[in-house]
Amino acid sequence: MTSTATEVAALLAQLTLEEKAALLDGSDLWRTTPVERVGIGKVWLSDGPHGLRSQPESGDHVGMLAADPSVAFPPAAALASTWDVELVGRVGVAIGAEARAKGVSVVLGPGVNMKRSPLCGRNFEYFSEDPRLAGTVGAAFVRGVQSQGVGTSLKHFAANNQETDRMSVSADVDERTLREIYLPAFEQVVTEAQPWTVMCSYNRINGVFASQNRWLLTDVLRDEWGFEGLVVSDWGAVYDREKAVHAGLDLEMPSSNGFGTQRVLDAVRSGELSETDVDRAVTRVLELVARSRPALADPGTADLDAHHGLAREAATRSAVLLKNDGILPLDAATGTVAVVGELARTPRFQGGGSSQVTPTRVDAALPALQEALGSRLTFAAGYAIDDDAPAATTSALRDEAVALAREASVVVLFLGLPDAYESEGFDRAHMQLPPQQVALLEALADVNDRVAVVLSNGSVVEVAPWRDRAAAILETWLLGQAGGGAIADLLLGRANPSGRLAETFPLRYEDNPALGNFPGEAGHVRYGEGLLIGYRWYDTRDLEVAYPFGHGLSYTTFAYADLTLDVLDDGAAPRVRVALTVTNTGERAGHEVVQVYVTDPEASVFRPAQELGGFTVVELDAGVSQRVEIELGARAFQFWHPEASRWVVEPGRFGIRVGASARDVRLAADVELAGEVVVPVLTADSTVEAWLAHPVAGAGLRAHLESDPVTAELFFSPETGVMLRAMPMRRIARFPGSPLPEAELETLAAQAEAAFRLGVS
Ligand code: BGC
Repeated sequence: MTSTATEVAALLAQLTLEEKAALLDGSDLWRTTPVERVGIGKVWLSDGPHGLRSQPESGDHVGMLAADPSVAFPPAAALASTWDVELVGRVGVAIGAEARAKGVSVVLGPGVNMKRSPLCGRNFEYFSEDPRLAGTVGAAFVRGVQSQGVGTSLKHFAANNQETDRMSVSADVDERTLREIYLPAFEQVVTEAQPWTVMCSYNRINGVFASQNRWLLTDVLRDEWGFEGLVVSDWGAVYDREKAVHAGLDLEMPSSNGFGTQRVLDAVRSGELSETDVDRAVTRVLELVARSRPALADPGTADLDAHHGLAREAATRSAVLLKNDGILPLDAATGTVAVVGELARTPRFQGGGSSQVTPTRVDAALPALQEALGSRLTFAAGYAIDDDAPAATTSALRDEAVALAREASVVVLFLGLPDAYESEGFDRAHMQLPPQQVALLEALADVNDRVAVVLSNGSVVEVAPWRDRAAAILETWLLGQAGGGAIADLLLGRANPSGRLAETFPLRYEDNPALGNFPGEAGHVRYGEGLLIGYRWYDTRDLEVAYPFGHGLSYTTFAYADLTLDVLDDGAAPRVRVALTVTNTGERAGHEVVQVYVTDPEASVFRPAQELGGFTVVELDAGVSQRVEIELGARAFQFWHPEASRWVVEPGRFGIRVGASARDVRLAADVELAGEVVVPVLTADSTVEAWLAHPVAGAGLRAHLESDPVTAELFFSPETGVMLRAMPMRRIARFPGSPLPEAELETLAAQAEAAFRLGVS
């Protein structure tokens, strides 16, 4: 036993049942319950995760009351667009340091839920529509925060992909889809970074609340993935406290005002809940308290100015240049620049709800541009940010902007979503920008064809209706408190855009895969699109999109060459090294995000057209080449075998596509993998085809069927063979004159199985 384990065991032994039950409940909104009698202190858990939201003891939890100032970093949607684990890790370190300095022991995040629908109100808090990207940057964030002796809370576990009815809706998802799409980001963060805590979600999964879902919280999270930390409820996610304890939910937050404590006591006393289950949960609370102690004893200080600088760097790297007809960057020769849009002066830099931070300061783009352009810059607000009305035929604000645009050599137009459009707690009603803003773009473009649009939005918007009117589009997401300076740097070419889309921009809302299955009805949301989320859908359906997953332009260009593939390990858990040379063929330094997509054209099950297998970011000076290596692990090739209920790589050929987006494949090659053959378990109800394919039973059955000309004709002729072989053996056996003995089928199947499993073991 480690010394902590010994100490925790000794403490546990001293506690009364009442004290144990109390320890499983919060003491207020943000803190655990202390037991002073034996020296157990409180632990403070606090939102984030895009900056610290530490509220005073009397605070609320949905952002209505102010929190102490901290640095607001770009939210997850932006940060993921960097694809840069090193940078995301540094942001984590900074947030961890701020938490430590405040005495906060657990930062409540990151959120690694998938962006299933573009309308989910919390998409700005989530990384991606792809589990590998979300899991990779999520793990980097967790490692960063936790390097400071402060924990994280990986949330919202699991299948919390909408805000509509979030506290009750049942996400009805088949297991393969859960395993391949909705769980892997959690799995990757748990296995690679061991977050101190995992936060269960509010919703139900296939009818069972996440908070009392033993399969999820114990079988999968702990037994399969080896999670070692504590499971905390989302704030108010507990229903039957005793069932939750048994399922593996250790800590209920916030305080249930004694309600949960009493339920635990009653359930133990009535024998409904075992004290062993309670002890297990209490042990995890005590371990959390023990883990928190070193940082609490040595809080240190956080350098908020340096963190502001880091927030600016992260913001610069997060913005995605969607389109550029050559007007960006604005160069010295550019004449007057008309900056239009209230968002240039009043930035929307974060989303609403529990992640809302009170920033230490906020930089708007307008003053940063003014500083650089001086009298060459003119400004008009153009619209009021929360003006959601249908576009008026006349508008004084618009007229003023049009007058400036007419005189300018370039227009930089800031457009974006108002706070009321997207937030925690509700889903968006549509994917459009406010009508006034689109009307403003049209009016400006009518008088000046050099309009660069700067977008501020936490999740994708429809750009197709108006993008032809813009000569350039810079997607800046919500960029945190230092976003204004970052935008100025990018527009002016002091920085080179390097963000790449972590989510697809569909042409129109109606193209998205969750349509019709989102947000559900009568308490259920059916994940009917299955594996086909995001680019998996658009690429498999070969649908045109506005901007594909992985897309993003730069002020330089990159060439890809000399692809090599090396199988490092073969068999059931292959590893393949992908190597290529990337050259910066332009005139300025820049970052390129090299993406590797895997295809499985020979699969025995349905697979999406391609899936992201790995990626890396490379920074290159102009003219410089670099050899880049990306290692693909087994998971890049595996699928969740629905019959075997485990991950499987099938033998055969896999396609490797290397490119600059899901639709911009630059190099491709195939790799042959040994994989493993999975033989489904044979029963009397297996089809004739399955029997014939069985390594032990197959040959005998075939010989038997072929021994009689009539049955040979029935089972193997092109006319009737396919139909008959698709039938279960038992049904065939029951037909009059059947060649198969029903009474013996069970035994034959069992014998064949036994012989086969013996042979392979
Ligand atoms: C949110 C969590 C958050 C918690 C505490 C909940 O409503 O879903 O993400 O961490 O509140 O504020």
